[in-house]
Amino acid sequence: MSKIEINNIYKIFGNNPKSVMQMVRDGATKEEVLEKTGHTVGLDNVSLKIEEGETFVCMGLSGSGKSTLIRHLNRLIDPTDGEVLVEGTNVMSLNNQELIDFRRHKMSMVFQRFGLFPHKTVIQNVGYGLEMQGKQDQERNKIAMEKIEAVGLNGFEHQYPNQLSGGMQQRVGLARALATDTDIMLMDEAFSALDPLIRSDMQKQLIDLQSQLKKTIVFITHDLDESLRLGDHIGILNAGKLVQVGTPVDIVMNPADEYVTAFVKDVNRAKVLKAKVIMTPANGAQPTGSSRLKVHEDQFLEEFLPKIVLKDIVVEVVDKAGNIKGYITDKELQKSLSK
Ligand SMILES: Nc1ncnc2c1ncn2[C@@H]1O[C@H](COP(=O)(O)OP(=O)(O)O)[C@@H](O)[C@H]1O
Ligand SMILES: [Mg+2]
Repeated sequence: MSKIEINNIYKIFGNNPKSVMQMVRDGATKEEVLEKTGHTVGLDNVSLKIEEGETFVCMGLSGSGKSTLIRHLNRLIDPTDGEVLVEGTNVMSLNNQELIDFRRHKMSMVFQRFGLFPHKTVIQNVGYGLEMQGKQDQERNKIAMEKIEAVGLNGFEHQYPNQLSGGMQQRVGLARALATDTDIMLMDEAFSALDPLIRSDMQKQLIDLQSQLKKTIVFITHDLDESLRLGDHIGILNAGKLVQVGTPVDIVMNPADEYVTAFVKDVNRAKVLKAKVIMTPANGAQPTGSSRLKVHEDQFLEEFLPKIVLKDIVVEVVDKAGNIKGYITDKELQKSLSK
């Protein structure tokens, strides 16, 4: 069973969404629907599965339906049609009390604009979800301090949000989401408001935290580099339609349509291709060359490409134990870097 399963979700905004469903099902575009009926198609027949412990990135231009999609997961939005299953439970079947519990214990959310309480200190903000879960002061503060440490904010626990930089405020947002210890974390453009260097730091921090925590993360962004860096899988939305789902390598190497191609055309492929993806597996015969270079199978091409100075150098791709898994020669390089 997938952690999250979305089946044929449609979301139409307007006065009478059901009345335009047939038109949407019959293939009318978002523009046609708007022009003829005044309704906005938010999501158009979206289905996808998100597995436990993965980071699933949802990417698309502004207005493509990313926020609408993520808000279906904790039922901040009800679908016009279709179903959302979280751990097999249809979220539409939850009654009020169940929905409150579900939001408190199953999912936490990190927002683009931090969403911190200005009149609460860092530790009070981080502990807020725990307070909602009914945890007492002492336990709450203990957990909050652990998470404050995890995001590198020790010493700032009694400051107020407006005393902190944007990057630090978002660390508080992240710590607050971690504190409730939900399995699922929803992050809607959580890093989009940050300066590039701070944003890159936050991405690194999230990757490091995730390598220990193994949460199921649904991360929304309009930025390709961020998607490629964070995503185990990436789903790409265009005008409410999910046009491609794949690994970063799938997306970069085999874009499904022109829209995805436009996103990936200028990407530095060496950034997303790992040695193991481009190597020819070892099968006894060894390629010949003037010199050899050893790289780990999980290294990105970007990291060792500068070391390949001679055309007939042979790159040996090894696993942790040092066993040779395959080889990369000029032939594999040409193939993976040419567009
Ligand atoms: N509450 C709403 N009422 C009407 N239209 C909406 C509403 N929320 C979103 N939309 C429309 O749905 C589409 C998808 O919006 P959104 O999910 O916010 O996109 P994104 O997060 O990708 O920028 C857009 O065309 C937007 O204008
Ligand atoms: Mg949005």
